[in-house]
Amino acid sequence: MDHASVANSGVVIEQADGLLILGFDRPEKKNAITGAMYQLLADALARAETDPAVRAILFRGSDKIFSAGNDLEDFMQRPPSGPDAPVLQFLRRISGAGKPLLAAVAGPAVGIGTTLLLHCDMVYAADNARFSLPFVPLGLCPEAASSLLLPRIAGYQRAAEKLLTGDAFDAQEALAMGIVNKVLPPAELLAYATAQARKLIALPAASLRVTKALMKGGTAGAVEIATTMDAELTRFSHMLRAPEAREAMTAFFEKRKPDFSQFD
Ligand code: COA
Repeated sequence: MDHASVANSGVVIEQADGLLILGFDRPEKKNAITGAMYQLLADALARAETDPAVRAILFRGSDKIFSAGNDLEDFMQRPPSGPDAPVLQFLRRISGAGKPLLAAVAGPAVGIGTTLLLHCDMVYAADNARFSLPFVPLGLCPEAASSLLLPRIAGYQRAAEKLLTGDAFDAQEALAMGIVNKVLPPAELLAYATAQARKLIALPAASLRVTKALMKGGTAGAVEIATTMDAELTRFSHMLRAPEAREAMTAFFEKRKPDFSQFD
């Protein structure tokens, strides 16, 4: 096995026999993703795109937590700015990936922990997985083109319920919504997802690339995603600096309920 992981970086990057595994590994902060982690992931995805030895990519967390989403401390101290912000590099890489992306999700998948799945080709969930998109409860709005992709995948009303309330939903509901391919016992999750990746690795890479590109709508599809991400980002960046988001994030760290009554 060719190990490329950086100790204590929050991510574990492993490559073996055609499969690149991108693992979230920051258990003490529930795998919340920092700018430095996005950068490592974006760089790994960039290398994978041109490395013929990589034929499929699999995202994973641990068997208890996929990811608590963007690190809220980072959001408050270092809000992403400019098109080269690590989170935006990461989003461009997953939305533009030409190779198959898979995910194995166990435990909570919050915010980008769920929206990144909308860019994956095959998503497997353990029966303890819990998905949530708490952008509105944080005083924010959707990102990662989820305002386009979730209604498209799940239907408008189901997407609206999840995006407007921010309520968490379980693996069976995610399956019914179409954002998950199969629900498995936690002990079987990774082996199953890896076996599915191995199936793809054994198939002709060019056929996989062309099939994926056709399903994604080629250049027009890519432009639509990029335009949506830009529109979301303009509003998101503004809202991240607004008092509602400050109150929501401060309340999270103070372990209390936020009070939005002072805002119109
Ligand atoms: N950013 C920064 N720190 C985070 C975090 C995040 N997104 N999510 C969790 N943490 C930290 C907590 O502050 C806590 O740190 P502490 O031990 O220093 O107090 C630690 O991780 C454990 O979190 P805790 O909330 O106690 O774990 P839990 O098992 O009760 O709940 C979650 C797990 C993921 C459901 C919960 O942590 C959560 O809702 N996190 C926020 C998710 C979020 O809003 N993400 C942004 C989406 S845009």
